[in-house]
Amino acid sequence: MIIAIDGPAASGKGTLAKRIAAHYGLGWLDTGLLYRAVARDVVVKGGRLEDLGAAIAAARAIDATTLCDPHLRGPRAGDDASMIAKIPEVRAALLDYQRTFAQQGKGAVLDGRDIGTVVCPDARVKIFVTASDEARARRRFLEHHGRGDTITYEELLADIRRRDARDSNRSVAPLAAAPDAILLDTTDLDADQAFVAAMKIIEKKVGK
Ligand code: DC
Repeated sequence: MIIAIDGPAASGKGTLAKRIAAHYGLGWLDTGLLYRAVARDVVVKGGRLEDLGAAIAAARAIDATTLCDPHLRGPRAGDDASMIAKIPEVRAALLDYQRTFAQQGKGAVLDGRDIGTVVCPDARVKIFVTASDEARARRRFLEHHGRGDTITYEELLADIRRRDARDSNRSVAPLAAAPDAILLDTTDLDADQAFVAAMKIIEKKVGK
């Protein structure tokens, strides 16, 4: 079974996808990490994110064993990822890895922006997770604050809005709900409530 979880920045889709995968014993891929790692690799090699050739080469050489790098989780890495994610050849280079991952054993849960529309258009279940900008910024702020980061709520809100606009307006595989995706608004839900709501959607779809 393949489950596609898409949504904007900091919508909680990663936490949700991880829990769903654990529940069903499926693989889990946070596809945002692939884009974050490509941007990291460009910068580490001394390149500029605006350099198409450097970004495409980094995407073609991506090493998935480096995705657990904790530096990939910060807002700067997210913004950098969103920049290189506009490049069609970068997206194309990452497609095979994502599709092969999805086809493993019992299946997988993938979260991202274009899983239901491009990567796995035949996914058994597609959920598009949303939440208000303010709720998403608040959650991110608490996360960062807990780690002792000094970034402000206003900075996180601006980052989320900038990234959503870039991800939604790019010409290739923009952030969008697939026509057959079920919307899940988590603005007023905590992580447990969001999980329960997502499980209801899945069980209704696959028949318990
Ligand atoms: O999910 P995330 O915040 O880690 O993603 C970081 C950026 O990567 C996001 O702003 C856009 C890009 N991305 C994408 O274009 N397609 C995906 N499937 C996942 C992420």
